[in-house]
Amino acid sequence: MKRPELFTPIDLGGITLPNRTVISPMCQYSADDGCFTDWHMVHLGHLAYSGAGLMILEATHVTREGRITPRCAGLYNECNEATIKKVIDYCRTVRKAPIGIQLAHAGRKASSQVPWEGREWLRPDQNPWQTVAPSPIAYGPGWHTPKEMGQKDIRDAIDAFVASTERAKRIGFDLVELHSAHGYLLHQFLSPLSNQRQDAYGRERMKFPLEVASAVRAVWPKERALGARITASDWMPGGFGVDDAVVYARELERIGFDYICVSSGALVPQARIPVTPGYQLPFAEKVKKAVRIKVQAVGMIADPEQAEDILASGKADMVAMARAFLDNPRWVWHAAERFGVELPYPPQYQRSRHDLWPGSALARPGSTQAAA
Ligand SMILES: Cc1cc2nc3c(=O)[nH]c(=O)nc-3n(C[C@H](O)[C@H](O)[C@H](O)COP(=O)(O)O)c2cc1C
Repeated sequence: MKRPELFTPIDLGGITLPNRTVISPMCQYSADDGCFTDWHMVHLGHLAYSGAGLMILEATHVTREGRITPRCAGLYNECNEATIKKVIDYCRTVRKAPIGIQLAHAGRKASSQVPWEGREWLRPDQNPWQTVAPSPIAYGPGWHTPKEMGQKDIRDAIDAFVASTERAKRIGFDLVELHSAHGYLLHQFLSPLSNQRQDAYGRERMKFPLEVASAVRAVWPKERALGARITASDWMPGGFGVDDAVVYARELERIGFDYICVSSGALVPQARIPVTPGYQLPFAEKVKKAVRIKVQAVGMIADPEQAEDILASGKADMVAMARAFLDNPRWVWHAAERFGVELPYPPQYQRSRHDLWPGSALARPGSTQAAA
């Protein structure tokens, strides 16, 4: 039987993923001044041995002010670095496959409440802070009006991305992903809806994100992997669209990025997005046709056959999943069983393999594992 594409290794920059499943970055809103907590140890600890080909940590912010919420992760000081390193060092004991981190700055969407406390802007009694953005345009009604970034703010933000990348290098991550989607700072510069500057950063809206990308590329080792999550649609008339995404992806390729993950939306609250299974896939497919580097699809991919079909039809090189992994951290193990692929299990969980259960439909002849 031909090995399914899902379980075929893939080279990304200087690293190799043992299969093409990716744990998509997921904010946990459980950090303490950017530092990882016990929650991260448990959450990432068990995803570490999920069998996913790549695990990417949540949006981790390059400055304190760049955090989406007060509980978001950061990589802007020693304490952040030490707490993330502790979790990653543990994950390495149960995981051989690569681990990446997503670096982010929320721009005008910073200073907001964690989702289960409202998901809106921080109120005056909730310690809000001044947000920054390309233009002084609020995310939506009621949201903080950001300060328009001056030349020094732009320089400082680029330096912050570089400093966090250096920290990620010291921690030992295999991969860095730049967050350039979901309405956060890099995306805010890209879109005409949020960037109405009159200077060079407004005339050339890709200028700032590409300066960040070049600066990060310059300090991130070639023997690891570097990618970006980009947006392919604001889902709004006059917004950033898939043709812009193609141009942007080509520029990132030129700078030396190894992969692009194609997402969309979240620049403005009033956008209406037709969310259906694989709804962002046509964007990934279009970007893939335009670049030679690897392309990751994401968004409403949850079924192993659906994932395999995306890869086998050449629409993308990898599939990233978020909610499917929260729902079922054993997604990869079960997909492997479905395709008849044998994966290494942690020895402590070896007996959970369905093919070792006597009487199971998947049981191998002679399987006699007894209950202890
Ligand atoms: C709890 C949660 C947190 C998320 N945090 C991030 C994040 O930190 N960075 C990011 O790029 N996307 C984030 N996302 C979006 C996911 O990575 C993914 O793109 C989106 O959920 C669509 O994929 P899915 O249908 O597989 O869930 C988050 C999604 C969820 C459900």
